[in-house]
Amino acid sequence: MLGPVILAASRSDRMRRLISAAPVTRPVVDRFIPGESVDDIIPVIRDLTGNGLEVTMDVVGEDITTPEQATAARDAYLELIGRLAELELGTRAEMSVKLSMFGQALPGGHELAFANVRPVVEAAAAIGTTVTLDAEDHTTLDSMFAVHEELRKDFPQTGCVIQAYLFRTEDDARRLAANGSRVRLVKGAYKEPASVAYQQKHEIDKAYVRILKVLMEGEGYPMIGSHDPRLITIAQELARRAGRKPAEYEFQMLYGIRGDEHLRLAAEGHRMRVYTAYGTDWYGYFMRRLAEKPANLQFFVRSMVSK
Ligand code: FDA
Repeated sequence: MLGPVILAASRSDRMRRLISAAPVTRPVVDRFIPGESVDDIIPVIRDLTGNGLEVTMDVVGEDITTPEQATAARDAYLELIGRLAELELGTRAEMSVKLSMFGQALPGGHELAFANVRPVVEAAAAIGTTVTLDAEDHTTLDSMFAVHEELRKDFPQTGCVIQAYLFRTEDDARRLAANGSRVRLVKGAYKEPASVAYQQKHEIDKAYVRILKVLMEGEGYPMIGSHDPRLITIAQELARRAGRKPAEYEFQMLYGIRGDEHLRLAAEGHRMRVYTAYGTDWYGYFMRRLAEKPANLQFFVRSMVSK
Protein backbone atom coordinates (compact mmCIF):
# COMPACT_ATOMS: atom_id res chain seq x y z
CA MET A 1 0.00 0.00 0.00
CA LEU A 2 2.87 2.40 0.73
CA GLY A 3 4.25 2.37 -2.82
CA PRO A 4 1.41 4.37 -4.44
CA VAL A 5 1.47 6.92 -1.58
CA ILE A 6 5.19 7.50 -2.04
CA LEU A 7 4.73 7.76 -5.81
CA ALA A 8 2.03 10.40 -5.28
CA ALA A 9 4.44 12.29 -2.98
CA SER A 10 7.10 12.12 -5.70
CA ARG A 11 4.98 14.61 -7.73
CA SER A 12 4.33 16.98 -4.79
CA ASP A 13 6.33 20.23 -4.68
CA ARG A 14 5.69 20.60 -0.95
CA MET A 15 7.12 17.15 -0.20
CA ARG A 16 10.01 17.88 -2.57
CA ARG A 17 10.95 20.99 -0.57
CA LEU A 18 10.53 19.23 2.78
CA ILE A 19 12.52 16.12 1.95
CA SER A 20 15.22 17.83 -0.10
CA ALA A 21 15.95 20.26 2.75
CA ALA A 22 16.06 17.67 5.57
CA PRO A 23 19.70 17.41 6.71
CA VAL A 24 19.49 13.63 7.22
CA THR A 25 18.32 12.96 3.68
CA ARG A 26 21.69 13.16 1.94
CA PRO A 27 23.33 10.01 3.41
CA VAL A 28 20.27 7.97 2.45
CA VAL A 29 20.22 9.50 -1.03
CA ASP A 30 23.93 8.67 -1.48
CA ARG A 31 23.13 4.98 -1.53
CA PHE A 32 21.25 5.43 -4.83
CA ILE A 33 22.76 8.65 -6.26
CA PRO A 34 26.49 8.63 -5.55
CA GLY A 35 27.35 12.21 -6.48
CA GLU A 36 26.13 15.64 -7.51
CA SER A 37 28.72 16.65 -10.13
CA VAL A 38 30.76 15.17 -12.96
CA ASP A 39 33.83 15.40 -10.73
CA ASP A 40 32.05 13.28 -8.09
CA ILE A 41 30.97 10.67 -10.58
CA ILE A 42 34.10 10.01 -12.64
CA PRO A 43 35.79 8.03 -9.80
CA VAL A 44 32.56 6.02 -9.38
CA ILE A 45 32.60 5.15 -13.09
CA ARG A 46 36.28 4.17 -12.87
CA ASP A 47 35.54 2.00 -9.87
CA LEU A 48 32.55 0.18 -11.45
CA THR A 49 34.22 -0.41 -14.81
CA GLY A 50 37.43 -1.44 -13.01
CA ASN A 51 35.37 -4.23 -11.42
CA GLY A 52 34.27 -5.63 -14.78
CA LEU A 53 30.91 -3.81 -14.82
CA GLU A 54 29.50 -1.49 -17.48
CA VAL A 55 27.51 1.68 -16.75
CA THR A 56 24.63 3.70 -18.11
CA MET A 57 24.75 7.24 -16.78
CA ASP A 58 21.71 9.31 -15.80
CA VAL A 59 22.00 13.00 -14.99
CA VAL A 60 18.98 13.24 -12.68
CA GLY A 61 16.23 15.75 -13.39
CA GLU A 62 12.69 15.75 -14.76
CA ASP A 63 9.55 17.90 -14.68
CA ILE A 64 11.42 20.99 -15.83
CA THR A 65 9.45 24.18 -16.49
CA THR A 66 11.52 26.31 -18.90
CA PRO A 67 13.33 25.77 -22.24
CA GLU A 68 16.50 27.08 -20.56
CA GLN A 69 16.42 24.16 -18.13
CA ALA A 70 16.11 21.79 -21.09
CA THR A 71 19.19 23.35 -22.69
CA ALA A 72 21.02 23.06 -19.37
CA ALA A 73 20.12 19.34 -19.26
CA ARG A 74 21.55 18.87 -22.75
CA ASP A 75 24.73 20.68 -21.70
CA ALA A 76 25.09 18.57 -18.56
CA TYR A 77 25.11 15.41 -20.70
CA LEU A 78 27.54 17.00 -23.17
CA GLU A 79 29.87 17.83 -20.28
CA LEU A 80 29.68 14.24 -19.06
CA ILE A 81 30.36 12.84 -22.54
CA GLY A 82 33.36 15.18 -22.84
CA ARG A 83 34.79 13.69 -19.64
CA LEU A 84 33.95 10.12 -20.67
CA ALA A 85 35.99 10.64 -23.85
CA GLU A 86 39.12 10.76 -21.66
CA LEU A 87 38.32 7.37 -20.13
CA GLU A 88 37.99 5.66 -23.53
CA LEU A 89 35.38 3.19 -22.32
CA GLY A 90 33.37 2.99 -25.57
CA THR A 91 30.03 1.24 -25.07
CA ARG A 92 31.06 0.22 -21.54
CA ALA A 93 29.76 3.66 -20.49
CA GLU A 94 26.55 4.71 -22.18
CA MET A 95 23.93 7.36 -21.32
CA SER A 96 20.30 7.09 -20.18
CA VAL A 97 18.10 10.14 -20.71
CA LYS A 98 14.58 11.20 -19.77
CA LEU A 99 12.95 13.26 -22.50
CA SER A 100 10.97 15.22 -19.89
CA MET A 101 14.29 16.70 -18.80
CA PHE A 102 14.88 17.80 -22.40
CA GLY A 103 11.61 19.74 -22.53
CA GLN A 104 9.05 17.13 -23.69
CA ALA A 105 6.25 18.50 -21.46
CA LEU A 106 6.69 22.15 -22.48
CA PRO A 107 4.76 23.79 -25.36
CA GLY A 108 6.21 22.38 -28.61
CA GLY A 109 7.83 19.81 -26.33
CA HIS A 110 8.18 16.93 -28.76
CA GLU A 111 10.27 19.01 -31.18
CA LEU A 112 12.16 20.68 -28.32
CA ALA A 113 13.07 17.34 -26.73
CA PHE A 114 14.23 15.99 -30.09
CA ALA A 115 16.32 19.11 -30.77
CA ASN A 116 17.98 18.79 -27.35
CA VAL A 117 18.56 15.05 -27.31
CA ARG A 118 19.98 14.74 -30.83
CA PRO A 119 23.28 16.53 -30.06
CA VAL A 120 23.70 14.24 -27.02
CA VAL A 121 23.21 11.14 -29.17
CA GLU A 122 25.60 12.57 -31.76
CA ALA A 123 28.27 13.33 -29.13
CA ALA A 124 27.88 9.85 -27.64
CA ALA A 125 28.32 8.27 -31.09
CA ALA A 126 31.46 10.38 -31.63
CA ILE A 127 33.11 8.68 -28.61
CA GLY A 128 31.92 5.24 -29.67
CA THR A 129 28.96 4.85 -27.35
CA THR A 130 25.23 5.29 -27.32
CA VAL A 131 22.12 6.58 -25.53
CA THR A 132 19.00 4.85 -24.21
CA LEU A 133 15.71 6.76 -23.86
CA ASP A 134 14.12 6.01 -20.48
CA ALA A 135 10.37 5.35 -20.28
CA GLU A 136 8.37 7.78 -18.14
CA ASP A 137 4.61 7.85 -17.50
CA HIS A 138 2.37 6.37 -20.20
CA THR A 139 1.20 9.73 -21.57
CA THR A 140 4.75 10.46 -22.81
CA LEU A 141 5.46 7.20 -24.61
CA ASP A 142 4.14 7.85 -28.13
CA SER A 143 6.41 10.90 -28.27
CA MET A 144 9.36 8.93 -26.84
CA PHE A 145 8.96 6.11 -29.40
CA ALA A 146 8.68 8.65 -32.24
CA VAL A 147 11.91 10.36 -31.09
CA HIS A 148 13.57 6.95 -30.80
CA GLU A 149 12.57 5.98 -34.34
CA GLU A 150 13.78 9.29 -35.74
CA LEU A 151 17.13 9.05 -33.91
CA ARG A 152 17.67 5.48 -35.11
CA LYS A 153 17.70 6.65 -38.75
CA ASP A 154 21.16 8.13 -38.15
CA PHE A 155 22.11 6.35 -34.90
CA PRO A 156 20.69 2.80 -35.07
CA GLN A 157 22.25 1.85 -31.72
CA THR A 158 19.99 4.27 -29.83
CA GLY A 159 18.01 2.25 -27.31
CA CYS A 160 14.70 2.69 -25.54
CA VAL A 161 12.92 1.36 -22.47
CA ILE A 162 9.63 -0.51 -22.32
CA GLN A 163 7.59 -1.21 -19.17
CA ALA A 164 6.05 -4.64 -18.53
CA TYR A 165 3.18 -3.21 -16.44
CA LEU A 166 1.58 -1.46 -19.44
CA PHE A 167 -0.96 -3.36 -21.57
CA ARG A 168 0.49 -1.78 -24.72
CA THR A 169 4.02 -3.08 -24.18
CA GLU A 170 3.73 -6.51 -25.78
CA ASP A 171 2.87 -4.81 -29.09
CA ASP A 172 5.68 -2.29 -28.67
CA ALA A 173 8.09 -5.17 -27.97
CA ARG A 174 7.08 -6.98 -31.18
CA ARG A 175 7.66 -3.86 -33.26
CA LEU A 176 11.03 -3.08 -31.63
CA ALA A 177 12.21 -6.70 -31.73
CA ALA A 178 11.38 -6.92 -35.45
CA ASN A 179 13.31 -3.77 -36.32
CA GLY A 180 16.45 -4.83 -34.45
CA SER A 181 16.46 -2.23 -31.70
CA ARG A 182 18.32 -2.19 -28.38
CA VAL A 183 15.52 -2.47 -25.80
CA ARG A 184 15.64 -2.37 -22.01
CA LEU A 185 12.71 -4.16 -20.41
CA VAL A 186 11.72 -3.02 -16.89
CA LYS A 187 8.67 -3.65 -14.73
CA GLY A 188 7.73 0.07 -14.58
CA ALA A 189 8.16 2.63 -11.81
CA TYR A 190 5.32 5.17 -12.22
CA LYS A 191 1.83 5.32 -10.74
CA GLU A 192 -0.37 4.19 -13.63
CA PRO A 193 -4.18 3.74 -13.71
CA ALA A 194 -5.85 0.31 -14.06
CA SER A 195 -7.13 1.39 -17.50
CA VAL A 196 -3.60 1.16 -18.95
CA ALA A 197 -1.53 -1.02 -16.62
CA TYR A 198 -1.51 -4.22 -14.58
CA GLN A 199 -1.71 -3.43 -10.86
CA GLN A 200 -0.76 -6.78 -9.30
CA LYS A 201 2.83 -7.93 -8.97
CA HIS A 202 2.11 -11.43 -10.26
CA GLU A 203 0.43 -10.01 -13.40
CA ILE A 204 3.38 -7.68 -14.04
CA ASP A 205 5.88 -10.52 -13.56
CA LYS A 206 3.95 -12.75 -15.98
CA ALA A 207 3.84 -9.95 -18.57
CA TYR A 208 7.58 -9.40 -18.07
CA VAL A 209 8.30 -13.01 -19.01
CA ARG A 210 5.99 -12.91 -22.08
CA ILE A 211 7.61 -9.71 -23.33
CA LEU A 212 11.15 -10.90 -22.63
CA LYS A 213 10.45 -13.99 -24.72
CA VAL A 214 9.43 -11.73 -27.63
CA LEU A 215 12.66 -9.73 -27.27
CA MET A 216 14.90 -12.79 -26.94
CA GLU A 217 13.37 -14.40 -30.03
CA GLY A 218 13.55 -11.16 -32.05
CA GLU A 219 16.25 -9.40 -34.02
CA GLY A 220 17.18 -6.78 -31.44
CA TYR A 221 19.42 -6.53 -28.38
CA PRO A 222 17.54 -7.23 -25.12
CA MET A 223 18.60 -5.44 -21.94
CA ILE A 224 17.10 -7.07 -18.85
CA GLY A 225 16.47 -4.24 -16.38
CA SER A 226 15.51 -6.00 -13.15
CA HIS A 227 16.83 -7.07 -9.73
CA ASP A 228 14.28 -9.86 -9.45
CA PRO A 229 16.23 -13.14 -8.94
CA ARG A 230 13.44 -15.22 -10.48
CA LEU A 231 13.34 -13.13 -13.64
CA ILE A 232 17.12 -13.19 -13.95
CA THR A 233 17.10 -16.99 -13.92
CA ILE A 234 14.24 -17.06 -16.45
CA ALA A 235 16.10 -14.56 -18.68
CA GLN A 236 19.15 -16.82 -18.78
CA GLU A 237 16.97 -19.77 -19.76
CA LEU A 238 15.12 -17.77 -22.46
CA ALA A 239 18.46 -16.57 -23.88
CA ARG A 240 19.71 -20.15 -23.99
CA ARG A 241 16.56 -21.37 -25.76
CA ALA A 242 16.79 -18.51 -28.27
CA GLY A 243 20.40 -19.50 -28.99
CA ARG A 244 21.81 -16.18 -27.78
CA LYS A 245 25.41 -15.96 -26.59
CA PRO A 246 26.27 -13.80 -23.51
CA ALA A 247 27.37 -10.92 -25.79
CA GLU A 248 23.92 -10.86 -27.43
CA TYR A 249 21.98 -9.53 -24.43
CA GLU A 250 22.81 -7.87 -21.12
CA PHE A 251 21.62 -7.46 -17.56
CA GLN A 252 21.09 -4.04 -16.04
CA MET A 253 20.53 -3.04 -12.41
CA LEU A 254 20.40 0.21 -10.49
CA TYR A 255 23.37 1.53 -8.53
CA GLY A 256 22.91 0.76 -4.83
CA ILE A 257 20.61 -2.24 -5.32
CA ARG A 258 21.90 -5.83 -5.07
CA GLY A 259 25.53 -4.84 -5.66
CA ASP A 260 26.78 -8.37 -4.93
CA GLU A 261 24.56 -9.67 -7.71
CA HIS A 262 26.12 -7.16 -10.17
CA LEU A 263 29.53 -8.66 -9.45
CA ARG A 264 28.30 -12.26 -9.46
CA LEU A 265 26.69 -11.96 -12.90
CA ALA A 266 29.76 -10.19 -14.31
CA ALA A 267 32.04 -12.90 -12.86
CA GLU A 268 29.88 -15.53 -14.57
CA GLY A 269 30.70 -13.87 -17.91
CA HIS A 270 27.52 -11.86 -18.37
CA ARG A 271 27.41 -8.27 -19.54
CA MET A 272 26.24 -6.40 -16.46
CA ARG A 273 25.46 -2.69 -16.71
CA VAL A 274 24.85 -0.50 -13.66
CA TYR A 275 22.40 2.39 -14.08
CA THR A 276 24.18 5.16 -12.21
CA ALA A 277 22.40 8.43 -11.49
CA TYR A 278 24.01 11.65 -10.32
CA GLY A 279 23.15 15.33 -10.01
CA THR A 280 21.38 17.74 -7.68
CA ASP A 281 17.77 17.29 -8.79
CA TRP A 282 17.47 13.80 -7.31
CA TYR A 283 14.04 13.99 -5.64
CA GLY A 284 11.88 12.15 -8.24
CA TYR A 285 14.46 9.41 -8.82
CA PHE A 286 14.99 8.92 -5.06
CA MET A 287 11.26 8.71 -4.29
CA ARG A 288 10.74 6.01 -6.95
CA ARG A 289 13.48 3.94 -5.28
CA LEU A 290 11.70 4.34 -1.91
CA ALA A 291 8.38 3.32 -3.47
CA GLU A 292 9.86 0.11 -4.90
CA LYS A 293 10.82 -1.20 -1.49
CA PRO A 294 9.03 -0.05 1.68
CA ALA A 295 12.04 -1.18 3.78
CA ASN A 296 13.97 1.71 2.19
CA LEU A 297 11.38 4.11 3.59
CA GLN A 298 11.63 2.58 7.07
CA PHE A 299 15.41 3.03 6.94
CA PHE A 300 14.94 6.64 5.83
CA VAL A 301 12.39 7.44 8.55
CA ARG A 302 14.53 5.73 11.23
CA SER A 303 17.52 7.85 10.25
CA MET A 304 15.34 10.98 10.52
CA VAL A 305 14.00 10.22 14.01
CA SER A 306 17.33 9.00 15.41
CA LYS A 307 18.94 12.44 14.75
P1 FDA B 1 11.00 -5.97 -7.84
O1 FDA B 1 10.49 -4.61 -7.55
O2 FDA B 1 10.06 -7.11 -7.75
O3 FDA B 1 12.27 -6.22 -6.95
C1 FDA B 1 12.97 -7.45 -6.90
C2 FDA B 1 13.96 -7.38 -5.74
O4 FDA B 1 14.96 -6.41 -6.05
C3 FDA B 1 13.34 -6.91 -4.44
O5 FDA B 1 12.79 -7.96 -3.70
C4 FDA B 1 14.52 -6.26 -3.75
O6 FDA B 1 15.34 -7.23 -3.17
C5 FDA B 1 15.27 -5.63 -4.90
N1 FDA B 1 14.85 -4.24 -5.12
C6 FDA B 1 14.09 -3.77 -6.14
N2 FDA B 1 13.96 -2.42 -6.04
C7 FDA B 1 14.63 -2.05 -4.92
C8 FDA B 1 14.87 -0.80 -4.28
N3 FDA B 1 14.40 0.35 -4.77
N4 FDA B 1 15.63 -0.79 -3.16
C9 FDA B 1 16.14 -1.93 -2.66
N5 FDA B 1 15.95 -3.15 -3.21
C10 FDA B 1 15.20 -3.21 -4.34
N6 FDA B 1 11.37 2.18 -14.66
C11 FDA B 1 10.68 2.95 -15.55
O7 FDA B 1 9.46 3.10 -15.42
N7 FDA B 1 11.33 3.54 -16.59
C12 FDA B 1 12.66 3.38 -16.81
O8 FDA B 1 13.21 3.93 -17.77
C13 FDA B 1 13.40 2.56 -15.91
N8 FDA B 1 14.74 2.34 -16.06
C14 FDA B 1 15.36 1.37 -15.29
C15 FDA B 1 16.67 0.99 -15.58
C16 FDA B 1 17.23 -0.08 -14.89
C17 FDA B 1 18.62 -0.51 -15.25
C18 FDA B 1 16.50 -0.75 -13.88
C19 FDA B 1 17.08 -1.92 -13.14
C20 FDA B 1 15.24 -0.33 -13.55
C21 FDA B 1 14.66 0.74 -14.23
N9 FDA B 1 13.37 1.16 -13.93
C22 FDA B 1 12.70 1.97 -14.82
C23 FDA B 1 12.73 0.76 -12.64
C24 FDA B 1 11.85 -0.48 -12.79
O9 FDA B 1 10.69 -0.17 -13.50
C25 FDA B 1 11.46 -1.07 -11.42
O10 FDA B 1 10.72 -0.11 -10.71
C26 FDA B 1 12.63 -1.49 -10.55
O11 FDA B 1 13.63 -2.10 -11.31
C27 FDA B 1 12.17 -2.51 -9.49
O12 FDA B 1 11.70 -3.66 -10.12
P2 FDA B 1 12.47 -5.08 -10.16
O13 FDA B 1 12.39 -5.58 -11.56
O14 FDA B 1 13.84 -4.90 -9.64
O15 FDA B 1 11.59 -6.05 -9.32
